[in-house]
Amino acid sequence: MARLLVTGGAGFIGANFVHYWTAQYPEDRVVVLDALTYAGNRASLEAVADCKQYRFVNESIVNEDVVCELLREERIDTLVHFAAESHVDRSISGPAAFINTNIVGTHNLLQAARSVWLDSDDAPASHRFHHVSTDEVYGSLGPSDPGFSETTPYAPSSPYSASKAASDHLVRAYHHTYGLQVTTSNCSNNYGPYQFPEKLIPLMIVNALDGKPLPVYGDGSNIRDWLYVADHVRAIDLVIKRGEVGETYNVGGNEERANIDIVNTICEAIDAAFAADPGLAARFPDAPAAGGRDSASLITSVKDRPGHDWRYAIDASRAQRELGFSPQHDFIGGLQNTINWMLDNEAWWRAVMDGSYRDWVAKHYAVD
Ligand code: NAD
Ligand code: DAU
Repeated sequence: MARLLVTGGAGFIGANFVHYWTAQYPEDRVVVLDALTYAGNRASLEAVADCKQYRFVNESIVNEDVVCELLREERIDTLVHFAAESHVDRSISGPAAFINTNIVGTHNLLQAARSVWLDSDDAPASHRFHHVSTDEVYGSLGPSDPGFSETTPYAPSSPYSASKAASDHLVRAYHHTYGLQVTTSNCSNNYGPYQFPEKLIPLMIVNALDGKPLPVYGDGSNIRDWLYVADHVRAIDLVIKRGEVGETYNVGGNEERANIDIVNTICEAIDAAFAADPGLAARFPDAPAAGGRDSASLITSVKDRPGHDWRYAIDASRAQRELGFSPQHDFIGGLQNTINWMLDNEAWWRAVMDGSYRDWVAKHYAVD
């Protein structure tokens, strides 16, 4: 039986990971440590609230004493680190929070892990520190460049990706210098249930339903590789169980698409959903699709993101070869699941967007 500390478990990927892990390994202890920033929502963990092995702690990773205490008290042997400031646009308008959480916070976790797992008498027999990182640390690709591999040199270009790159280096340094048992995964763009509607895919779905403009940066030609979140959390499981200590694994969906194509695909899927279900027009009267018009009429070209990376692509051959990982969801299937989930969970996204989920949480839970 493993005893996990999951940082950032109330965020998008962290919550999906907690759902997955508690279903897959019900005997394992799962302690979530989350500061509940605007991106962290306890409502996203409602489904696991009654699991007997689950505990939620509302604290910051920047508080090293809290982390040390939790590692000891809960006899944690596996730390899975998702907590971060994760949105590139926010890192451009306010980089300081990214330095604090992504660099200082990660370093605090490493110090706590070192002190409890390496320098104390009551350390667990074995331990693992898994760091969840991003493909953005590798910078931007040209049209015919090969995908990022684990040996591609780091060239981060936004304050977000620079802070994640720094955290990756610190994680590896703690392995090299102190022998901490670490692994890292660098993944491409995720999408799926519980993603905060500031990221491209959920933002476009919400705006199309509410009849608001669909803001496409620049000419929409920028390319990302997309992975359905359920595949990402399965890949992390494989890295934790089969990955070599000290090593890094790149994870991707092999689904490179231009932003404008993604937005058009979302618009077509929403138009089709409204055509198939007349009830949607009554629920979302401001959607163009409610009046039989194309959602694509909302597409609006806006000023480009400063320093906007043009293309990301992943060479995931190592994860496939050494871990047996390959995605189970293709982009069209994953996108349809995501749209269906958003249609079925309107209360969740309205509440997280206007902050009222905090009132909802206050009514449902006593906060630790
Ligand atoms: P998210 O923004 O949805 O969630 C981040 C979570 O971290 C939130 O619950 C937030 O409350 C919590 N958090 C923030 N600061 C904290 C602090 N100081 N202490 C404790 N908790 C704190 O992010 P996400 O999209 O789920 O990403 C999770 C991780 O995966 C991040 O490290 C990100 O860099 C990485 N990643 C994300 C993607 C993607 O496409 N979303 C792709 C690859 C890697
Ligand atoms: O590649 C992995 C990364 O993917 C993660 O590490 C980050 O945490 C995650 O936020 C994501 O970063 P991106 O910047 O690629 O994601 P975002 O959803 O913000 O944007 C995707 C693309 O869409 C990007 O080229 C910018 C563009 N975009 C985004 C928004 C929010 C638009 O054209 N319009 C928008 O309104």
